[in-house]
Amino acid sequence: MGSTSAEAEAAPTLAPEILDYYARGGEESRLRYGVGRLELWRTQDILRRVLPEPGGRLLDVGGASGVHAEWLAADGWRVEVVDPVPLHVEKAGALPGVTARLGDVRALDAEDASVDVVLLLGPLYHLPEPAERHKALVEAARVVRPGGTVVAATINRHAALHDQLNRGGWFEPWRQVRLIETSATGRVDAAGGEFTTAYLHQPDEIAAEVAAAGLTVSGQYGIEGAAWLFGGIDACLDDEAKRAELLKALRIAESEPTLLGISAHLLTVGVRP
Ligand SMILES: C[S@@+](CC[C@H](N)C(=O)[O-])C[C@H]1O[C@@H](n2cnc3c(N)ncnc32)[C@H](O)[C@@H]1O
Repeated sequence: MGSTSAEAEAAPTLAPEILDYYARGGEESRLRYGVGRLELWRTQDILRRVLPEPGGRLLDVGGASGVHAEWLAADGWRVEVVDPVPLHVEKAGALPGVTARLGDVRALDAEDASVDVVLLLGPLYHLPEPAERHKALVEAARVVRPGGTVVAATINRHAALHDQLNRGGWFEPWRQVRLIETSATGRVDAAGGEFTTAYLHQPDEIAAEVAAAGLTVSGQYGIEGAAWLFGGIDACLDDEAKRAELLKALRIAESEPTLLGISAHLLTVGVRP
């Protein structure tokens, strides 16, 4: 929300390394190939069950180039992507039924209680400071209508450790030092070269943050479950019948509290009272 008052807070800006990382354009393909499809199809499977009937106004904050916006619009949502990266806005805005604009989750340009659903599938990854995440979640809670839904994605605390164990990076001493630090603190910095400035959550931590923003937590869902760590998952995703069976299996333990943290990503659903 713009303001010209001298006392007004400056508009939030994204750290340059985060903007640089996304300006490379990786989000266009990340979920369309390989194991990224597991994240896409599982997110779709979960959202179709937890969101209200399509037809309302949906803000996809941090929607990148619109990989989710595209199917959400086809399902009947009036989708608005809000993202700080110009390339993302350009790509998402070209999709049928999707509008897109530049913006930041910490200062949404929507009226109070004016939208049915707010998706935060990514912005919270890049807000390492708790106060900034609180600002983001309070904004989401402000713009969603009473009874409306906010869905927050987080990366699980030990996802980098498990990923690098799987890929062999753990056995490189310099990377091991970084992974131990990330598992202890949740913080990722851009110097590792694989990702950018990020924060990795514990499942109970994000649930508490969503509640602290005034939302009622109605569920938590591991997106990939343990399956992202299995060998041969790509072949399973390539085969339509096997993929359906895989999705069926992952629904069984998706909200099992003892397994939430094994997934790479987690969805936490909040409803505005
Ligand atoms: C990992 S991508 C996720 C993209 C997509 N939502 C998905 O689920 O695949 C993170 C997205 O969050 C956006 N982002 C980062 N910081 C943000 C902020 N402060 N406000 C809004 N979006 C932000 C990035 O530009 C990027 O598009």
